[in-house]
Amino acid sequence: MQNIIEQYKSVSEVNVTTWFEVGEVSDFPKNSGACIKYKTKQIAVYNFARKNSWYACQNLCPHKMEMVLSLGMIGDKDGVAKVACPMHKKNFSLKDGSNLAGDDLKIAVYPVKIKDGNVYIGFED
Ligand code: FES
Repeated sequence: MQNIIEQYKSVSEVNVTTWFEVGEVSDFPKNSGACIKYKTKQIAVYNFARKNSWYACQNLCPHKMEMVLSLGMIGDKDGVAKVACPMHKKNFSLKDGSNLAGDDLKIAVYPVKIKDGNVYIGFED
């Protein structure tokens, strides 16, 4: 179980070595999430149209190790985009992956780039 979570590490845009194309903008529902696979990782991608922004994070909720975050509700807390896990409603920042209730749990976040109508997620591996 530990190995599953260890593969998820936040990536900063400056460290991206691979921009992985995950589809066209129109493939992603507005104001909700979708799940893509990169190597062995499941990544939740959010087309946060209300904020005119895109976000990506691990699909794995670290609370009970459920692959569910792409199904979570997205919203905003004090200007920070967040996702609420659909299982027990833990809230995570989509900006830095922190748990907004201050718990130790944290998620990995990834940069998203839109180019020529296509969506790319940035990885370091
Ligand atoms: S599994 Fe996500 S909050 Fe419990």
